[in-house]
This record gives sequence, C-alpha cells and structure tokens, in this order.
Amino acid sequence: MTHSNVTFIGLGQMGAALVPPFIQAGLQVTVWNRSIAKAEPLEAMGATAQANIADAINASDLIIVCLSDYASSNALLLQAQITPLLKGKTLVQFTTGDARQAQAGAQWAEEIGLNYLDGAIMDYPTKVGRPECMLLVSGPEAVWNSCANEMRLLGGRMTYVGAKPGSANVLDGSLLTMYYGNTFALMQSAAMLQAEQVDIKDFATALQAFKPVIESTWKRTIEAIDQQNYAGQEASIYVHSLGVQSLLERAKNAGVEHGLLALFSGYVDRALSNGHGADELPAAYEVFRPQ
Ligand SMILES: NC(=O)c1ccc[n+]([C@@H]2O[C@H](COP(=O)([O-])OP(=O)(O)OC[C@H]3O[C@@H](n4cnc5c(N)ncnc54)[C@H](OP(=O)(O)O)[C@@H]3O)[C@@H](O)[C@H]2O)c1
Repeated sequence: MTHSNVTFIGLGQMGAALVPPFIQAGLQVTVWNRSIAKAEPLEAMGATAQANIADAINASDLIIVCLSDYASSNALLLQAQITPLLKGKTLVQFTTGDARQAQAGAQWAEEIGLNYLDGAIMDYPTKVGRPECMLLVSGPEAVWNSCANEMRLLGGRMTYVGAKPGSANVLDGSLLTMYYGNTFALMQSAAMLQAEQVDIKDFATALQAFKPVIESTWKRTIEAIDQQNYAGQEASIYVHSLGVQSLLERAKNAGVEHGLLALFSGYVDRALSNGHGADELPAAYEVFRPQ
C-alpha cells in the first residue's frame, strides 16, 4: 500500500460500506458525515470520526468521497477554507455524476494541486469489498498507480478505464441504462404474467433458458453498431415490428401499463419508415445516434 491513512467523506448507505475494507486492511481510517451519528458503527470497528471536515481532510493523504450528488460535494470541498488543505493529496470521487461533472472536478483539482480520480460503484453496498464487486475509475494513470492497491480493497472488479476523467461516469451511465431498461422490462413482463395468471416463478425458469438468446442479441447489436452494418439473415426489422406490435396489443388487451412497449413499437416503426425494413433489429440504433 502507498497510503497508510484514508479519510471518507459521506457515510450514507454506500459511503459507509466503503469504509470497513480499509479498517480490516489495517489502514488508519478517518470518517466524516454531515449527520455524525452515522459514524458510530464505524468508530466501533476502529475508525476515527471527525465532526469538522477540515480535521477529517487533514488526517489523511487519500480522501474518498461518496455523497448524494456533485452539488453536495462541491458545496463542501470548494469552500475557500477547505481547498488549500487538499493540495498534494489524492481524492477519489465516487459520487454519481456525468462526464462533465468529472471533467470539472479534474480541472478544479489541477488548479489547486490535488491528485484526482473520478469513479463509479457498479454494485450494491452489501457487495463492496467482495471479489465480484465492480467499480470503475478514471483519471491520470500515475494517480491511479499511486492508489490502485488501496482502491482494489473495494472490490475484485475494480477497473481503471483510462485517463479521461469522465470515462468512468460515461460507462456508469451506459451500464445503468442497461440495468434500468432490463429491470423495467422485467416489471412489464411480470404485469402480463399476473394478468394472464402465469406463475412468475415459471418465468424465472424460462428466463434462465432464454438468457443466451438475449446475450447473443446484445453481442450482435454491439458488433453491428460498431461496424455500422445492419444486414443479416435472422429476422428483419419488418418482422420485429409485427412482434413488438403484438406485445403492445397483448398488454393493452390485458389492461396493464404499456407505455414501455409503445416506446419499443415507436422505435421500430421509425426504423421502418427510415427505410430499414430489410435490415436487422440493430438498425433501430439509427433512431438513437447523436445527430
Ligand atoms: N446505494 C447504492 O446502492 C449505490 C450504488 C452505486 C452508487 N451509489 C452512489 O453513491 C452515492 C451515495 O449514495 P448512498 O446510497 O450512500 O446515498 P444516501 O444513503 O442517501 O447517502 C447520501 C450521503 O450524502 C450526504 N449528503 C447529502 N446531501 C448533503 C449535503 N448537502 N451536505 C453534506 N452531505 C450531504 C448524506 O449525509 P447525511 O447522512 O447527513 O444525510 C449521506 O452521507 C450516490 O451518488 C449514489 O448514486 C449508490
């Protein structure tokens, strides 16, 4: 380890989960939270709580931040009496945000002489520190190398994704879009199952068997978008339009929410009217691409 001490700013559900792996690894751990009572369980584990954020920052060379949003983080860290304390230290920002916020953070850090990485946590608090826990970090490679061993305490799938400060946040957004898209699609499916009185446990079994089809569709879609080649012999957009229209009608007839399926149908119809009828499903990406 390069760092023997670390300070955590933010002890919400995720922020508090980041702390124990560092205590268990024997680092000297300082914690700060607006509502200081949340520090008590961590103090019992060996952390030192500071009520004053300046004292918390002074305690360590490595600072890990995990707050609700960048506005809260900026309100704390950009204070005139705080920024001079950060000079020469390393700060890893795990608050969720976008690429522009990470870029602004990196620029601010450069101005004040702070080593800065921006990251994203791609799992739940109970998984932090475990081999399967995935986190993403981006920023200057030298900064990453200086704290990679410490960062890997947070999860076996801690991944450095390059020097651009916003890369981790962009990947986070893409993965979360998949997470929400699939989870809302699952809720749509559950509503249909309930309306038609089919046991959701049967769906769980069927879904396991269907997973390879979904995964091969993702793979084919990524390749097609990358190569901008939507030709194929499996199923045309026209056939998909009939299939998606059928799903929409089924949901309407069952009297369940169908806004999501109406969106699917709209995307496929736009691809059709843009002349992609003979192409495969990934051709609908043309509806989404930046103009
Ligand atoms: N929970 C997850 O599963 C998960 C997964 C991946 C990423 N994340 C990300 O992790 C970050 C924290 O999430 P969380 O689940 O820990 O949220 P949370 O439980 O709601 O905690 C929010 C934290 O932000 C602090 N905070 C909010 N506004 C503040 C302000 N104006 N000044 C000072 N502190 C302020 C809170 O302090 P108080 O305790 O005083 O309110 C608390 O420490 C978010 O960006 C979230 O997207 C969470």
